[in-house]
Amino acid sequence: MTAFELNGQEVVVSEDHEHLLGALRDELGVISAKDGCAPSGQCGACTVLVGDKARVACQTSLERTNGEKVTTLEGFDDAELQRYCDSFAAHGALQCGFCIPGILVRAKALIEKKGEALTRDESARHLGAHLCRCTGYIKILDAIQDLATGVIPEPQAPKGVGSGGTKYEAAALAAGTRPFIDDMEVDGLLHGALKLSDHARADILKIKTEAALAMDGVVAVFTAADIPGELKVGLIHKDWPVMIPEGGRTSYLGDVLAVVVAVDRATAIEATASIEIDYQVYEPMTDPIRVIESDENAVWGLDGNTLSTSSYQRGDVDLGLESSAHVVCETFQTQRVEHAFLEPESTLATPTGDGLYVYTGGQGIWDDRDDIARVLGVDASLITTELVSNGGAFGGKEDMSNQAHTALAAWLLDKPVQITLSREQSLLMHPKRHPIRMTYEAGCDANGKLIALRARMLGDSGPYASVGMKVLERAAGHATGPYALQAVDVEAIAARTNNSVCGAFRGFGANQAQFAMEGIM
Ligand code: FES
Repeated sequence: MTAFELNGQEVVVSEDHEHLLGALRDELGVISAKDGCAPSGQCGACTVLVGDKARVACQTSLERTNGEKVTTLEGFDDAELQRYCDSFAAHGALQCGFCIPGILVRAKALIEKKGEALTRDESARHLGAHLCRCTGYIKILDAIQDLATGVIPEPQAPKGVGSGGTKYEAAALAAGTRPFIDDMEVDGLLHGALKLSDHARADILKIKTEAALAMDGVVAVFTAADIPGELKVGLIHKDWPVMIPEGGRTSYLGDVLAVVVAVDRATAIEATASIEIDYQVYEPMTDPIRVIESDENAVWGLDGNTLSTSSYQRGDVDLGLESSAHVVCETFQTQRVEHAFLEPESTLATPTGDGLYVYTGGQGIWDDRDDIARVLGVDASLITTELVSNGGAFGGKEDMSNQAHTALAAWLLDKPVQITLSREQSLLMHPKRHPIRMTYEAGCDANGKLIALRARMLGDSGPYASVGMKVLERAAGHATGPYALQAVDVEAIAARTNNSVCGAFRGFGANQAQFAMEGIM
């Protein structure tokens, strides 16, 4: 047992927790400290005060906490917390709000130490311990500076379309009291964890769940064999298996093989390590150029490796290039980009008698509802999905992640189940921005006026469609950027590979095309 003072009260917690954050969130009901990447200590969302020092709780051991005073936002003086929240709200210093409670704690530690002497540069340096993916840091620094110097701007309610005003739920988001899905508690809640594949391309010969099932606290282990309805889901093509069954083949490292349900999250995660998988491993097909020329299928159950081809032509490009005074030909390669939203994906599903109520942080909850119903083999009217505003998405939560797995477990057990991905699993599972290889050939007259452009694009879309064909279509549509040309010939191919799935991300393919077009200019 570990004893410490939490927000002025003596508490005693079990030593089973991996870190202070686990004890705070799982045993003591603290929700202001958010779990963005535990136990890596990279995002700062779980920052609390230990004594008068700001510490990331997921990197603070219980041993180190013993006998200390720990303060979370729940323990701030009400008037003081209001001031902090008002300042952040008035400055528009938050969007999703997932990162802000940790930043408020950091701000308090800095202001208590330096008072009015706190400089913007010092604050900026200390904010290096915090990631914010939505707001940026300028407004956050403005809010902290005002707090340090005692200026409290009044939050203004929006007065209508076109007026400025504070964000909906700004104060509660800043204080960390507006629950994200992983903050939600319901009676009898069980926790799930996913077993992902160890190999990007491997036949699944056997899934052995006995050892996991025998563990104390484990309630059930489900595999694809337990799915009563359709195996595959997807926003446009239904080609994404919820789980890979025995006899099936994995197509990327985010493929799910089993769901463990247990009395707590730590047990569920631990039990996934006890699931034994017999694999027949194959070399993953990762090069889009080779993949589209190969006769071998990269993805289990799908014929061919070309997801889509988008093309259009206008005018005579060959003639335009021949008659150009200058011709430039270059190949550009963009990289795969991760959204890095601060809140890892979380879903909570609760039985309603004849159906399910599913709290989802997805970006298309009607699609979530319809696909969950297909997986369960029930009418969509039995499934209610409620959107819980998420801690960032940027396109990365358009596809389902763990929604179907959570719903399946709750449905089969007739009990509420919550699944929250670890940061590592989140990175492996959800789609990324497409890396696109773009060969541009452009010609202009002696005055520099563009005459003709030929563009060939090849995007690595990963194994499953997601919205990959639409992203490459958008890249093709924006191939010439803002420039007017009489002769254009564009082709954009989305290739299926065994890399990460690629899908929606702010800009949706147009960004890559602008990179190439501005490069050729
Ligand atoms: Fe900072 Fe969303 S407001 S991560």
